[in-house]
Parts: sequence; structure tokens; C-alpha cells
Amino acid sequence: MAAKSNTRSESGKVRRVIVVGGGLAGLTTVIKLCEAGVPVDVFSLVPVKRSHSVCAQGGINASVNTKGEGDSPRVHLEETVYGGDFLANQAPVKGMADAAPGIVYMLDRMGVPFNRTAEGLLDFRRFGGTLFHRTAFAGATTGQQLLYALDEQVRRFETADVEDERGIVIPGEKMVRKFEFWDFLSVVQDDAGVARGIVAQDLKSMEIKAFPGDAVCLATGGPGIVFGRSTNSVINTGTAASSVYQQGACYANGECIQVHPTAIPGADKLRLISESARGEGGRVWVPKDPKEQRRGREVPEADRDYFLEAKYPGYGNLVPRDIASRELFLKCFHEGRGVFNAKTGANENEVYLDLTHLPKEALHKKLAGILEIYEKFVGEDPYENPMRVFPAVHYSMGGLWVDFERSADGGLVMGSPRNQATSISGLYAAGECEYQYHGANRLGANSLLSCIYGGMVTGPAMASYRKGMDKSSYDLSSSVFEKAEKRELAKYNAILKMDGKENPFKLHDEMAQMMLVDVTIERHNDKLDTVLAKIDEIDMRSRKVGVPDTSGRANQSAQFTRHLFNMIVLARVIAQGARNRDESRGAHFKPAFKDRNDEKFLRTTLAFHSDGGNAPNAVRFARDFDYALNGKTVNITDAVDISLVQPRARKYEQAGAASANAQGAAKKDGDKAAAPAATAT
Ligand code: FUM
Repeated sequence: MAAKSNTRSESGKVRRVIVVGGGLAGLTTVIKLCEAGVPVDVFSLVPVKRSHSVCAQGGINASVNTKGEGDSPRVHLEETVYGGDFLANQAPVKGMADAAPGIVYMLDRMGVPFNRTAEGLLDFRRFGGTLFHRTAFAGATTGQQLLYALDEQVRRFETADVEDERGIVIPGEKMVRKFEFWDFLSVVQDDAGVARGIVAQDLKSMEIKAFPGDAVCLATGGPGIVFGRSTNSVINTGTAASSVYQQGACYANGECIQVHPTAIPGADKLRLISESARGEGGRVWVPKDPKEQRRGREVPEADRDYFLEAKYPGYGNLVPRDIASRELFLKCFHEGRGVFNAKTGANENEVYLDLTHLPKEALHKKLAGILEIYEKFVGEDPYENPMRVFPAVHYSMGGLWVDFERSADGGLVMGSPRNQATSISGLYAAGECEYQYHGANRLGANSLLSCIYGGMVTGPAMASYRKGMDKSSYDLSSSVFEKAEKRELAKYNAILKMDGKENPFKLHDEMAQMMLVDVTIERHNDKLDTVLAKIDEIDMRSRKVGVPDTSGRANQSAQFTRHLFNMIVLARVIAQGARNRDESRGAHFKPAFKDRNDEKFLRTTLAFHSDGGNAPNAVRFARDFDYALNGKTVNITDAVDISLVQPRARKYEQAGAASANAQGAAKKDGDKAAAPAATAT
């Protein structure tokens, strides 16, 4: 029997759900929940307007086709699946591509200051992996503009009253309550393992507290900091995803880590120089002579090697990121053709990204945000000098495994409680912390889209789940919450007491450097074996950490130590997943296994945590598993849904390789997706 009321629990409490994370995915989930009349508590490590979505630069994809190029959602689906080397389940990708134009128009109506054409239409630019102008943009600060727009919408709900089923206002209860500067520690699980709320820590007072929630959504971003310096914000340690993985949630395709080709090398972090620089005509090159010592702008045209344009005449500088990053890596590491840097007086692992041939006014209008960043952190004017860039860890295609329910037309059944559900009943995931939309390589500007679409799917899914619950979390014995709170308090106190010789920050540097060198662009099994052994060693040493600060307020060292423990666990999932996958697919590249092997590896990597024994925190991989949803069992396999686009070899050397089939298919079936051929999940 479902809980008596949708608004109040048996004991009369307002039934809230919890969203952890205040980026695009989290805020969209909140908005959708509120629209469905579900009150929400939002938790965020930082003020929501500082969530990592704020760093996104280049834009958001939608096949609006205002330029009359023949783009369509079907082509968008095809190119996304092809770009991801066929590892993405296709139903969610179709749902996302179909919804994209509506999402961009919705954002426009919310007031996002998108760039427009002279005629006043939304402007679209090119991004990697497509020949179409599909990317809507707000200069080169698109993520910030989108985040601020959604934040405004959520603020409206912070002042909206909660009403009961009869429309009567419940005094003192607002639709959204926001908890900023709170660190997620774990989900509260009842005896059946169902998520019933969360335990979180206030990062100012360090108070640890359990919060009930009828369902929980993690929208906590990616794990880039496992690799140390990356384009990610320091908050992107993957701690929340790691924590629920250790509580039993399945983690999928962890090995699929994206390296963005163009970032500014830096001592503290690697600042992104958006793909949109190439979308607006930027060209990547190195001097033909590896001993060239003239400044970039002084090297004449005839002495330059535009190596991406030469090898990929159709896509040129806009091949997908996995390919571009490998080509840059090849130039610098294997061919020793990194460019001369006058400041260091040596050739560095850097290539030129050149905008100097483009009109300054247009550059300013479309790219000012990133050009300011370059000038500020490098000290050179990018309007006059080719920028020096190198690849950087940017995004995780892998993440928490989530389910979906496919509709008759091959997309998603909106409102199904299965959508975005993790393998822990009652726990949902949206945004970069889940694995669903990008396969083995994400196309640029699909991440803002997947965050917002993911949120649009997750909100209704959680609302349905909440409707189908037998018993509200608010009617459980308080002991369920007290137990979880005590467990986390004990863990935290144990960290404060740690007085060993290891420094958590140094230990992290050591692990991250190794992950960066051996688990990113090129992967070799012998090196991965060494990495795995070293992760075990670092795991052991992490138990002998001395926490530099034991104070009771705003203790960042203790918090970081907790995140370090969780990063070590994810590092193992990533490295072991890479070790197991003896093929090359998307961003996962093994020179010893150069080809994709669909027969053996067209499969989702499904990782589970297995604690205990001689191998603490070991990873267990599964081919299938069951999970429970509203009391029913759902069986899942690692088979990938390929019902809409048949796998074929990627050949970006040929112009239009990604969309050739799609356009053919679109003509044949009147631009409708093919009917699903099989039920993979
Ligand atoms: O290059 C960029 O602007 C990044 C976009 C993305 O990761 O989608």
C-alpha cells in the first residue's frame, strides 16, 4: 500500500526529498520536483552559484538547424553515439537529443543571454565531432549564464509555500530549503538497504547530522581531482559517488575519462581554453622544425604544421576530443615537437592554438571570457599571439550506474521511477556523477545538455518513486537516522585522531601524478599493473595519515582526508576498469590493443565495491545484477542498447563520417528514429 498522503507522512511531517549538488543537473532536478509539487532540501559543498557547472565555457548542443544545414535530433543522436564509440545506451541519448531544442528555447525564455545573429536568431557555433552548427552559446561563459538562470528559478521556489493536497498552505514550510557548505557523507539506509535520507557535515561548524528524505538524488559532478591538476574545480573529488559506491551502488565505465585537448598548463590547475576557440576558426599547429625558436607569431605560414587539418581534412581542428588529445600527445611526447617557450627557454609539451588570423571584434564578442583567462594566467595577449596549450583531464564519462525505461519510440518513458535510478533503491543520480549519456567519449557541449536533460528526467522519476513508496522515510524510527549519524561521527572523530607520518595532501599528489601519467591518454597493461599495486600501497599509507589540523571549525584538512580516502577507492575503480578493457574505444586507448573489440567489450563495465580480506576496497565486476525499486526486482545486464544506431568503425579521416549514416537514415524514415530492435535492459 502506498503512503497515505503525498504531502505529509503518517506522523504529519512534510515529505521532502533531497538533492545533493547545486550545479545544472541538481538545480534542474529541484525545479522539476517543485513543479511536481514535491518539496526539496538541496545540499551543496559550495554556494550553488559556485558549482562546477559555472566553469563550462563553450556552449550547449541542440540541433535547432537555424542555419538550414539539415541538422536534426536524429543526426545529433547518431553523432553522439558514434562519438562515444557506441558504449552509450541509445535510448537515453535519443531522449536527450530530441529534448535539446526545447531545452535551449526554455533557457532562452529564462533569460540566458545567448549570442544572437544579426537577424536576432539564436546563434549556433560548431563544436567537435560534428560538421553542423549545433552549439548555442553565451560568449565563452555559457555554464555561468545557465547556472545563474536556473539559480533564479530555484530561488523562486525557496519563497514558495508548501501546500497540502487541498491547496492549503502548510505554515513555515517552503518548497526549497538550501544547505550550502555542507559535505555529503553517505546515504541513510534502512534494514532493506533503501536510501532514506543522507548524513552530511556542516563545513563551518563541522556538525554531522542526518536528514530524512523520501528519495535522494546525487548531482555531485565528476572525479577529476583524482588526477590532481585538471580543468576541474577543487570540489570535484568524486567523494559523494565514491561514498555511495562503497555503500553498494554500482559504478559504471569508470575507465572512460575524457582528456580535453586544449588547456593552459599551470602549477595549480589546468585552465580550460574552450573547444569553441576552434569552433570559431582557431587553428592548432606546431612548427615544422622541432628546433624552431622564433615566437609563434613570427613563424611564417610555410613553416607551420597544421597537423589536425592535414590528417582530418573534413573535421580539421574539430575532431572529437579523444582523437585531438591523442594527436597532441603524439606530437609532444612521441615526436618531440612541443613548441619553444621563451619563458622557460626550452621546448615544452605545448602546441599552438592560434586565433590571431580572426577579426578581433568577433573574437571579443564570442570568446572574451576565455581570452581574458589566457591573458591573466599566461601574461600574453591571445589576440596577438598564438596561445600555448596542452591536453588536460576534463570529464568522466563513467560514473554511478543508473537505469532507464525505454519508450515505444526508442527514447525514455518520462516519469518512470526507473529513470536515473541507481542500484540503491531510492537513490538517484544526475549529471557528471552518472554514466549514462556519453559512452566512451563525450562530444563537446553535450555535457551541459546531459546535465539539464538528466535533471528533467530525474525530477519526475523521483516524484513517481515517492508516490509508490510503502512508507515515508519520515515515519521510520529515529534510530535509523541516529545510527547513520553515529557511524559518520565515529569515522570523522577517527580522522581527527590520526597522527601518523603521512601527509594527506602529499599522498594525494603522489597518487594523482601517477594516475595522470599512466591512466589518461595512453594506457599500457604493465603500467596499469604498477598503478594498481601502488594504489594498494597508497591505500595502506593513507591509514597512517597525520591530519594537519584538528580544530573544530572549518577544518579543511580533515575534510580533505575523507575525500582522499574516497578518491583512492575511485582511482582503483578507474585503473582496474582500464586494465580489464583490452581494446581501444573512445577515450580509452591502449596502443597494444589498438582496435575496438565489440565482440568482447561492447559491454558496460559494472563495478561493485567489495570490502574486507587482504584486498581492502577491492573492485568486483559483474555481468548482471538485480536491484529493487518500490519493492520490485529489476534485472540489469552489461549489454549495451544498440537498438537505434548499429555500431560501425569510427573514421573521422573522412568528412561527415559521424553523420553520414544518420542523414541516410533520416531521409529513409522521414527523420524518425528507427524502432527499437531489442530490449537490452
Ligand atoms: O571546450 C569547452 O568549452 C568545453 C565544453 C564541454 O566540455 O562540453
